[in-house]
Formats: sequence, C-alpha cells, structure tokens
Amino acid sequence: MRKILVTGCSTGFGEDIAKRLIEDKNNLVLVTMRNAESREHTFHNLNATNFKVISLDITDSSQRKNVREYIEKECNGELHVLINNAGLGHYGALELTKEEELRSQMEVNFFATAFMIKEFLPQLRKASKYSKKIINISSMLGQVGMPLSSNYSASKHALEGLVEGLHYELAPLGIDISTICPGRHRTNFMKNISWSSLEKQKEVYSIQEENLKKLMSKFSEGKEIPLTNVSKKVVTLINQKKTPARVYVGKDAISFYLLRKLLPFNFFMGMLKSAYSRLILKRSQHA
Ligand SMILES: NC(=O)c1ccc[n+]([C@@H]2O[C@H](COP(=O)([O-])OP(=O)(O)OC[C@H]3O[C@@H](n4cnc5c(N)ncnc54)[C@H](OP(=O)(O)O)[C@@H]3O)[C@@H](O)[C@H]2O)c1
Repeated sequence: MRKILVTGCSTGFGEDIAKRLIEDKNNLVLVTMRNAESREHTFHNLNATNFKVISLDITDSSQRKNVREYIEKECNGELHVLINNAGLGHYGALELTKEEELRSQMEVNFFATAFMIKEFLPQLRKASKYSKKIINISSMLGQVGMPLSSNYSASKHALEGLVEGLHYELAPLGIDISTICPGRHRTNFMKNISWSSLEKQKEVYSIQEENLKKLMSKFSEGKEIPLTNVSKKVVTLINQKKTPARVYVGKDAISFYLLRKLLPFNFFMGMLKSAYSRLILKRSQHA
C-alpha cells in the first residue's frame, strides 16, 4: 500500500485531503491532528479501514518522533508521501507584533514544517514501489505581500525558499517536493487568525486593521470556493510522473501569479499598492 502522512487534518484542507486520499483503497493514510481525541470522530464515520488517526502537534519534537516510530513499527519503516498542510495565520502590523507572536508564526508555518521534512526523509528514502513525494500547502501570500499580513507572508515565503532549494537537493534521492499555493478559501483559517497585540502605537494602524477585517469578513460571506480544488490537486500531484515545483489553486492565486510573471516587478508592486490603498490603507468607501 502507498503510505501517506497528512498534517492538520482536524478541519479545512487537511480534513478534505485526508478524506479524498482514504477513498483510494491502495492508500494507507496516516491522518494526523492536534487534539485527535476531540476531532477524530469525523473520520470514524467513514466506511473505511485504510487510515489511522494519530495525534501530532507538528511543533512538538517528541510527537514527531512518536509518529516516526509508529511508521517504523507498523508501516515497515516506509513513507511514500508527506503532506505538510498544518498552518495558521498571525496578522497585524509588525510594529504591534510581540516577539513571541512572530516566533510562533514562524514556528508552525516554517520551522516545524521544515522539521517534519527532516524527520521523515529517512523513511521517504527507504520507501519503494510508489513515487516518493513531499507536498506542502503554502499560500498565494508565499509569493506576494499584503499590508498587515507580512508575518504570515514571511512564514510562507520562507517555506517557498526552503522547498525551492530542496527541489534540487532531493531530486538525486528520487524524492519530488512541491508547494500548492491556494488563494482564499473558506475554512477555519480566517476565524482562527490571531492579531498582533501590542497596544502602544495601535492607533497608527487602526484604520488598516479595521479595513482589512471588514474585507476579510466580506470574503467570508462571499462565494464559496470548493476545498476539493486543493484536494484534487494533491491527488494529481501524487499520481503525476513529473511533479511541478509549484502549483496555484484559485482564480485569485492564478491571477497574482500571472500578473507577477508578466509585468515588470516595480510596475506590479505599484499596481498592488494602489489596489491596497483603495481597499485597506486609507479611509474610503470600503471602510
Ligand atoms: N483557507 C485559506 O484561504 C488558505 C489559503 C492559502 C493557504 N492556506 C493554508 O492552508 C493550510 C490549511 O489551512 P486551512 O485553510 O485548512 O485552515 P484551518 O481550517 O484553520 O486548518 C488548519 C489546520 O492546521 C492545524 N494546525 C495548526 N497548528 C498546528 C500545529 N502546531 N500542529 C498540528 N496542526 C496544526 C489546525 O489544527 P487545530 O484544529 O488543532 O487548530 C487545523 O487542522 C495552512 O497551511 C494555511 O496556511 C489556507
């Protein structure tokens, strides 16, 4: 069986990806999540036996080791596909961000994700019969910046940089690595965003924060984009012979990608600046 580990399966993309992979009975899916006791029931309702729910907070090195030991004992020490999906957003102005807030944003989206790759590389190397892949859920903000989203954007840019280097480093080992950059989708992501909490100078950024929050709630009420677009892309990447290093999902992510590719960079940034200025930076009819 093809052994696949997915992180952050309690909700959102992770849950959808894991459920889609379980539909293929050739897969044995290691469904990992924090607080497995409270969320695993959504998987136990499935009429399937080709999965195992395991507790994993990706920032906890002892839990990463437990999962590796489980694979050693129960999966012949082999892992074919690692899907790094777990992630969260910390938004707000850098000037209002506490040191520990920025560090914890980087901890989950970058450091722990990098340590996941490091932890499971020996088992990916050992795997045989199926192609070996690492798929990381990044973001369109891993490619572009946005006001009051720079902490999150930095964490995803760091992930993109890591993956780009590993794309070459792991090729001789027969392991493909890629990122999926989704645009905006309705999951628990926005609801779970934490905001920078320093009070000093708060008024300097209050209009931007207010406008961004209004814009986000408008997005949350807008047309729903199916999460299956991402899980279908994961299945395509797993089955594809030649895995692309980066793919985009969603009209917004694809438009950003095309504009950035086709336009001179300073022109592209100028265009974004005037869009952000209309939507977020100034008091306007959108505010
Ligand atoms: N939704 C979007 O618009 C969007 C767009 C681009 C990229 N993304 C990326 O997509 C990925 C999945 O997010 P989502 O949209 O599906 O949001 P979500 O519904 O909030 O799901 C996030 C998942 O990550 C888990 N998680 C967070 N920190 C973790 C940790 N330390 N260890 C293990 N699991 C952890 C959460 O677990 P708990 O339930 O325990 O908190 C949850 O299962 C993230 O990497 C996010 O950056 C989302």
